Amino acid sequence: MKILGIETSCDETAAAVVENGVNILSNVVVSQIDIFAEYGGVIPEVAARSHLEAMLPVANKALKDANCTWDDIDAIAVTHAPGLLGSLLVGTLTARTLAILHNKPLYAVHHLKSHIYANWLSDESSLRDRSAFRSAAARSPLGTREQSEELAPAAHGDGPAGRGDTVLKEASESFPVLAMVISGGHTQILYMPQHNDFKIIGTTEDDAIGECFDKVAKILGLPYPGGPAISKEALKGDRNKYALPHPRVGDLNFSFSGLKTAVLRAVQKEAGLPISHPSSDLKNHLTEAEIADFAASFEKTAVDILIEKLKLAQKQYPDAKSIVFAGGVSANTYLREIAKNAFNTPVLFPEPKFSGDNGAMVAAAAYFEIESGVKPTDPYKLNIYPRIEIA
Ligand code: KG4
Ligand code: ZN
Repeated sequence: MKILGIETSCDETAAAVVENGVNILSNVVVSQIDIFAEYGGVIPEVAARSHLEAMLPVANKALKDANCTWDDIDAIAVTHAPGLLGSLLVGTLTARTLAILHNKPLYAVHHLKSHIYANWLSDESSLRDRSAFRSAAARSPLGTREQSEELAPAAHGDGPAGRGDTVLKEASESFPVLAMVISGGHTQILYMPQHNDFKIIGTTEDDAIGECFDKVAKILGLPYPGGPAISKEALKGDRNKYALPHPRVGDLNFSFSGLKTAVLRAVQKEAGLPISHPSSDLKNHLTEAEIADFAASFEKTAVDILIEKLKLAQKQYPDAKSIVFAGGVSANTYLREIAKNAFNTPVLFPEPKFSGDNGAMVAAAAYFEIESGVKPTDPYKLNIYPRIEIA
């Protein structure tokens, strides 16, 4: 089954064709990052207008790159929630129109679901990453030796179809899954007993972690988006220079607004300035080394918080067979390094190019919805939901 996935929930206009939920036939992403780097953040109306310009060429290119005509496409999937209202409208109206025009079933997909399913997207390079997953499975008390040996040869010899089957098998063997979704808009831990079955077991009580990376970057005078900028800067810094507090929030929940304020206060203190000093001017009072040390100390604290909460989640859900990271922040290299050896179960990350927003993950999520019996949506009625939880 070949699905055209369309994604426009924030500032990436994206479309892709994916076969059977895992094999990528094309993946086209036009990012608006360059526009918003100038403003230091996303401006919703500008984002919507940019989607309008890019959407149809991006969808056409996705078909062309996949060597597909409309006859080859079995279904269309689109992000309908959550996200920026104007951005969601462009993608969904495009998908609705294409579905009617070409008489294809239409599936409306929740953005966080898509991020999670980015983990099983497969091309040659992700297969290489997956061998690490297999060796982790072999080490794990829950993953058997037989499992890893049985899966291993596929990485070397399989053709595209066999490759897809291997990954699909691997995916179903990963459940129950603990999924950590970390993005610009969300910070959640979800328990997934099986495909397309989600229970939110922890969530942020204020800011999302990606938002916190972006705000701390601004304080330090680093460019937007803040995540990659902090990550790069942190490589030069001392992770233990500044002790930043872990928020006191209950159980599996998160709070990142306190961490951002803690960085702000620590920067003001280091610069010898009062707490009334505007945050936009602080960068002028820091040395290069201090900026790197703040970036490194902040990144370490944020990652420690995530790992701590996941360990707690593992205690509460001991039957979970694997841990899956998802969302833009899952591209973070330091997090990947730390998470790799932090758990006694296999840990999966999406290939970095699928951590951020893309259409392939939308098509993948739709495939698993269809497999679970979800019916198509009426293209004349599909609605958008800028703020709705995964279900
Ligand atoms: O998933 P995403 O592309 O869009 C949303 O659904 O929100 O996530 C964007 C967020 C931004 O806050 C960005 O700063 C963060 O992901 N991000 C990172 C990294 N790359 C992107 N955060 C930490 N480290 C990174 N390498
Ligand atoms: Zn996203």
